[in-house]
Amino acid sequence: MQTRIDNKKIVLGVCGGIAAYKSVELLRLLNKQGAKVRVVMTQNARSFVGPLTFEALSGYPVCFDLFQNSDSKKDSSIKHIDWARDADAVIIAPATANIIGKFANGIADDALSTFMLALTAPVLLCPSMNSQMYANKAVCRNLSMLRADGYFIVEPKAGELACGDSGPGRLPEPKDILDRLLHCLAPKDLKDKKVLVTAGPTREPIDPVRFISNPSSGKMGYSIARAAEHRGAEVVLVTGPTNLPDPVNVKVIRVETAKEMALAVFEHMEEARIIIKAAAVSDYRPVNLAKQKIKKGKDEITLFLKKNQDILKELGRKKKNQVLVGFAAETENLEINAEKKLAEKKLDIIAANLVDSLSSGFGTDTNRVTLFYKDKTKEALPEMGKDDLAHILLDRIVKVLDVSR
Ligand code: PMT
Repeated sequence: MQTRIDNKKIVLGVCGGIAAYKSVELLRLLNKQGAKVRVVMTQNARSFVGPLTFEALSGYPVCFDLFQNSDSKKDSSIKHIDWARDADAVIIAPATANIIGKFANGIADDALSTFMLALTAPVLLCPSMNSQMYANKAVCRNLSMLRADGYFIVEPKAGELACGDSGPGRLPEPKDILDRLLHCLAPKDLKDKKVLVTAGPTREPIDPVRFISNPSSGKMGYSIARAAEHRGAEVVLVTGPTNLPDPVNVKVIRVETAKEMALAVFEHMEEARIIIKAAAVSDYRPVNLAKQKIKKGKDEITLFLKKNQDILKELGRKKKNQVLVGFAAETENLEINAEKKLAEKKLDIIAANLVDSLSSGFGTDTNRVTLFYKDKTKEALPEMGKDDLAHILLDRIVKVLDVSR
């Protein structure tokens, strides 16, 4: 499966901190995403994790000395320059107060700090240290200088630290560092654009403990929200109940019912330039909500349902300047149904997916959609990860924006 960092050349700089063990996991995660990762370590980092671990996992010799690699070749000083020239991005994780001070002041007295001086690629710096050290004026000053120099600083998490103190200083989880790397590498073609995304199912209560819903996990909508944020947009995500964590830098509004989703969407529609409705909204809700749990009794009972408002149709009716994108979840007649929804809801694009497959639709990490456009053209996309699909959808939306400019 192709990803956004497939074949990208990433250099992982590891410093001597207790969180160095997490950089092993980060390396594995980057490898899984198809990146080619080389590791440069400080001498102190070797006290926490051995270079052989990184060498075995990355498949490349590890650089930890100006004059010697982990494979004992004596030409590593030249490699620094090659690696710096080739790198698409660099991640320093964990970044200690010492290395931050060296980077900020242009000191080059070991393999990692020398490598950094030869670099032009973007740098993601992940400080991790005791919270008192992190609050130290010199460290704060050095970090501000690096920020001004264009470094992307990933703020440490607050929590219990290895030294027993509690506060900011923990290295973020590898998946969160990966998320910031993707942000760092993404084009910023949605900068200054407001994007409204919906995700997940809605729940229509029958009684205090039961509801009508569907198997939407929210993955598709959250992928779109994350991708839009990576591309510089200001994102509002209106989501039904899911188990997914809030995407970074996204305003998340959690709702339960279709009515609540409609209210939240209409409140934010005016300011949005792009609206993408990936939520699986219940078409019907029970007419009556029982105040108490319905008791088991008769063999058959009847539940009367009432149609919910079609939020997307209403958006199509109200829309002014927005690019409006819907999804169609179908189990049959994909093309006919999608084209009908595209026209009826006045959409610019509809992404139609068959939802009776094991690798596409509800709950899966992958999806297979056909995009239908307002101009009656269509584009069948191969099965791919929802994160990648989100970016392709945004690529197409950017084209629509360019045309309408
Ligand atoms: O969340 P995941 O597990 O990742 O699954 C992803 C998904 C299958 C939910 C997603 O890819 C998808 O297909 N979402 C749309 C599901 C759906 O409700 O399709 P629909 O064909 O019933 O509705 C068409 C469009 O109208 C959708 O954009 C929907 O958000 C919108 N709608 C529907 C009913 C309603 N009352 N209001 C709406 O706005």
